[in-house]
Amino acid sequence: MADGLRKGLASYGDPGFSLFLRKVFIKAMGYSDDALNRPIVGITNTYSDYNPCHGNAPQIVEAVKRGVMLSGAMPMVFPTISIAESFSHPTSMYLRNLMAMDTEEMIRAQPMDAVVVIGGCDKTLPAQIMAAISADLPTVVIPVGPMVVGHHRGEVLGACTDCRRLWGKHRAGEIDDVEIEAVSSRLAPSVGTCMVMGTASTMACVTEALGLSLPMSATIPAPHAERFRLAEASGKVAADMAKAKGPKPSELLTASSFRNAQIVMQAIGGSTNGLIHLTAMANRSPHRIDLEAFDKLGREVPVLIDLKPSGAHYMEHFHHAGGVPKLMAQLGDLIDLEAKIITGATLREVVAAAEDVPGQDVIRTRDNPIKSVGSMAILHGNLAPRGAVIKQSAATAKLLQHTGRAVVFESVEDMTLRVDDPALDVTADDVLVLRNAGPKGAPGMPEAGYLPIPSKLLRAGVKDMVRISDARMSGTAFGTIVLHITPESAVGGPLALVRTGDMIALDVAKRSIDLLVDAAELEKRRTTLKLPKADWAKRGYAHLFHETILQADEGCDFDFMRAQGKSEGRSEA
Ligand code: FES
Ligand code: MG
Repeated sequence: MADGLRKGLASYGDPGFSLFLRKVFIKAMGYSDDALNRPIVGITNTYSDYNPCHGNAPQIVEAVKRGVMLSGAMPMVFPTISIAESFSHPTSMYLRNLMAMDTEEMIRAQPMDAVVVIGGCDKTLPAQIMAAISADLPTVVIPVGPMVVGHHRGEVLGACTDCRRLWGKHRAGEIDDVEIEAVSSRLAPSVGTCMVMGTASTMACVTEALGLSLPMSATIPAPHAERFRLAEASGKVAADMAKAKGPKPSELLTASSFRNAQIVMQAIGGSTNGLIHLTAMANRSPHRIDLEAFDKLGREVPVLIDLKPSGAHYMEHFHHAGGVPKLMAQLGDLIDLEAKIITGATLREVVAAAEDVPGQDVIRTRDNPIKSVGSMAILHGNLAPRGAVIKQSAATAKLLQHTGRAVVFESVEDMTLRVDDPALDVTADDVLVLRNAGPKGAPGMPEAGYLPIPSKLLRAGVKDMVRISDARMSGTAFGTIVLHITPESAVGGPLALVRTGDMIALDVAKRSIDLLVDAAELEKRRTTLKLPKADWAKRGYAHLFHETILQADEGCDFDFMRAQGKSEGRSEA
C-alpha cells in the first residue's frame, strides 16, 4: 500500500490509532478508503483576491487534480500565504521568507508523497522552491504563467516596463490625466504575471532550467488553454513521482543544474532579483552561487532573448518562438544537457524536442545575439566590498563608464520628498545615491533602486542617469542602475559614508564602483556614523526578520534557514 496517510505517523506514538484517527477525520470530507489508500499529491493553493497574478490558480489547481486522479493518485489541496507585488507592505521581499517557512512547514506537517507548488508573482516561486529544497519531497513547480500583452493607441504594452515609461511621460507632462487613466486599464489586460522579463518571468525560466517544472511551463500565457493542459500533465508527473518516491529536489539540483540556471538567467536578460533568489535557493542545498563565477559566466553568455526591458518583445512571443527549450538549444554546449528534469528526462531530450519556428526573431542565435555579453555584471570596489550588481543589458551604454558627483538621499522617504524639488542641486552628470534601503534598512530591500530622474531633468529630456543604492529594482525597469550594494548602509556599509559632493566612479568594464574619497577621510567619517534605529522591529515577524536577515550576497534568507553543514560538499555552482 502506498504511504499516503501513513506518512509521518511515527510522531503520534501508536501508529495504528493515529492512522485510525486520521481516517476518522478526513472521511468527514466524504473520501472513500479507495481514495485514501492511494499515494497523496499535495497541491498548494496561493489564490487570493489580492493577487491578480495568481488569478488563474483555481483553474490550474483543478487541472492538476485531474492529472493526479487520471494517474491513480489522490490530490489534496491546501492553502499557503499568497504574495502579490502590489499589495505587500512594506515589500514582497519582506514576506518571501515567511512564505518559504509556511510552505515548508505545511509540506512537512501534512501527509503527502509529492507536492505541486503553484506560484508566479515575483517572490512566490523562489519561496516555494526554497521550501521544496528544504523539505526535499518530490516536487513539481507550476508557474501561473505570464499575462497576455496590452494595447494602447496602436502600441503594444507590457506590465510593468511600460507602467514606468508611461508614468514617466505623465510626470514629464506628455500624457494627461485622462489618458493615464485609460492606460491603467490596459497595462495588465489579463490574470498572470508581468509579461516582460521581470522577476516573475526570470524565476519561471530559471525553474524550467533547473528541471523543476515541465518544458514550456515558464512561457505559456496564463489564460491560454495550453496552460491548463500543462497543469494536468504536471499533475500526472507528480502522481508518478509520488509512486516512485522521486526524483526529489536533492536529486535534481546539482552544481551543474545551478550553473545552467545562471546561464539561462544571463541569456534571457533576467532580473537582478533573480540573482538574490537563486542564491537563497542554492543556500538551502549543498550548492552555492559564487558571484565571481556568475560574473564570469556573464562574460561568456550572450543575451539571446529579445524581451523588454532589454529588448522589444513579450513573454507570449518568447513562448510562440519555442520557449526555454529552444533557448537552451541555442545555448548549446554552454548548458550541461545531461542535467535531469522531474520526468526523468535529460535536458538533451528536452532540447531535442524543442520546436523550430521559422522566421521567429525573439530567440536569437549565438552568432546574432541581442547583446554579446550576459545581462548582469557584478561590481566591487571600496563602495561595495561584498559586491553590487548592474543589469548592463538594460543600461545606457555611454553611462557604463562614468564619474560623477554624488547627490545623496538618506532614505526612500527623503528621496520621495526631495527628488522633484525644483531647488534640488542636481545635473544629468551627477550620480544619484540612495541609502538605508537594503534588507535591514528599509526593511525588506524595497524595489526603490530605480530612483526617479528628478522631474526638472526629465522635463529637460534626460532619460537616464547613474543611480546607485543598497535597494533592489524591479526586473521590469530600465536604466544605468547599480543595485544591492553590500554590505548595506544600515549595517554600516561604506554607502553610509558617502556625502553629497563626493565623486563616485562607475566602470562596468572593469567591474568597479568606487567612492573617490581617501581612506583616512572615510575612517574619520566612520567615527561619527550613527546607524539608523530599527523601531519597526520590536516584535513579531519584524523582529525575527531584523535579527536574522542575511545580506544580498547571501540571498537575504534568514541565517538559521540555510542548509546545515554547508561547508561539507560545498560546490561553487
Ligand atoms: Fe505579480 Fe508582476 S506584479 S508578477
Ligand atoms: Mg517585479
